Amino acid sequence: MPAALKIDLITLFPGMVSGFLAESMIGRGIERGILDIKVHNLRDWTNDKHHITDDRPFGGGAGMLLKPEPLFEAIEYLHTPECSVIFLTPDGEPLNRSFSRQLAAKKRHLILISGHYEGIDQRVRDNLVDYEVSIGDYVLTNGTLAAAVLIDSVCRHVPEVLGEEKSLTQDSFADNLLSFPQYTRPAEYRGMCVPEVLLSGHHEEIEQWRKERSLEKTRIRRPDLLNKKEPQS
Ligand code: ADE
Repeated sequence: MPAALKIDLITLFPGMVSGFLAESMIGRGIERGILDIKVHNLRDWTNDKHHITDDRPFGGGAGMLLKPEPLFEAIEYLHTPECSVIFLTPDGEPLNRSFSRQLAAKKRHLILISGHYEGIDQRVRDNLVDYEVSIGDYVLTNGTLAAAVLIDSVCRHVPEVLGEEKSLTQDSFADNLLSFPQYTRPAEYRGMCVPEVLLSGHHEEIEQWRKERSLEKTRIRRPDLLNKKEPQS
């Protein structure tokens, strides 16, 4: 049976994600054939003896850009009729739960491009890229870890990757609220007690308490979420 989701990641630093792909739920998803994730070294698509992938920007300025030729050749090689190409870049659209869920639900094949240096030649972005995605308002040394974040956030929405479906519905952001506090045994530890209501077995009261705590936390930390019309779930 083909994998539920195929992902090809193009990077200059394949070693940065090898541990990540071998561990935990993503590792198990790959092992069980639900996920097919391959990491490709961009240098494999260079034709010169030094395997050069970058060059200076026309018009001057600091830093180096990834050249168009290896990226065009890599993407054309990996392309399939159903694939979407995503470029990880700090000037992309902010990644959120809703986008990750949609990718998991609607896409069967993703090609991820991780940038380096000051970015990539604009012709790649204009002609080959479907989505440009940022994982936050900070700049990483390259996009490989950003690609790992995107892979993780998408793959956990692929059915069967996460064991328990419930753990998705209780996610932070699932209904535009941050998650409520959680406790496990022991009920008392070093004099710190679990809130009484959680031990009561009273499901409605527990739900009510959780909703209130979620609202309170969201109001303090992320009031912007409360004004959103569209739920992210
Ligand atoms: N590459 C470097 N910084 C990044 C960011 N914040 N998001 C996505 N890709 C990046």
